Amino acid sequence: MVTKTNFGAYALYTIEAGELAVSITTLGATVTSLRFRGRECVPGYDSPEGYLGGTAYLGAAIGRYGNRIALARFTLGGKECMLPANEGPNQLHGGPNSYDKREWSAEVLDDAVRFTLSSPDGDNGFPGALSAAVTYSVRGGTLRLDFEGDSDADTVYAPTSHMYFDLSGRENCREAELQVNASHYLEVDAGLIPTEVTPVEGTRFDFRSARKIGQAYDHCFVLDGETACVLCDGGVRMTLSTDLPALQVYTGEFLPAPFKPFGAVALEPESFPDSPNRPDFPSTVLRAGEHFHRWAEYRFETV
Ligand code: GLA
Repeated sequence: MVTKTNFGAYALYTIEAGELAVSITTLGATVTSLRFRGRECVPGYDSPEGYLGGTAYLGAAIGRYGNRIALARFTLGGKECMLPANEGPNQLHGGPNSYDKREWSAEVLDDAVRFTLSSPDGDNGFPGALSAAVTYSVRGGTLRLDFEGDSDADTVYAPTSHMYFDLSGRENCREAELQVNASHYLEVDAGLIPTEVTPVEGTRFDFRSARKIGQAYDHCFVLDGETACVLCDGGVRMTLSTDLPALQVYTGEFLPAPFKPFGAVALEPESFPDSPNRPDFPSTVLRAGEHFHRWAEYRFETV
């Protein structure tokens, strides 16, 4: 069942099916709430102002490029694309006033809502007019996201979802147990730009067996398969699967009030950061006329 209410000047759609109730606003196609068996698992603001003024990307759909592009520039087809920088010299999450701050259109489907956004040619420096879509659907205990995109010129496209998870409600993600299906992670420089693909073996990045998160992370893990990670806390287990190649684990140390620092962990299924400048990384180029489709599923259970 899908119901529609107001969220300030925006709309809020709530999909209720089985034990899950997920609310998504047209502002940023953002998940404002995800309740499993009545327990809130995804922190959000209760009005648009929090999102419009915020820099935490809480629950938002991110585009055109999730994570960072070094020095806010890349070359595509021999042409240099200059982007507005919004984190030091680099671009983060598509730049200033990007998709997470835009109003998306919504179409109600069966226990699902499809959000669409037209991103014009040259939007935040990216070439090609892109039609972006994110469809949220709920079935049983599973929330599924389908990311789609079509561009009229060659571009790069790397969407993600920036949900933070607090499965127990105790607002301390370092106590949560995490398992990540990754035998490599990306080592980064001081600006969090990837330097090299590094084995997790013998490092603090080895989450191949479930263990407490314990400390701060803001890193990209290279996934070994479609089961990306399992997060377990307060008797709830969430299994995240995706056909995207990587997972950003961000422990939310700078979460703004009213949220507690480290109160929730962002698990972002993504492409590798800075791929447009890294021919050695999986390509994020979307060619004109090619259809982009990637998915992510979040399955909730009690344990
Ligand atoms: C991503 C980044 C973090 C931080 C958050 C938003 O996860 O990797 O460094 O910017 O987004 O606060």
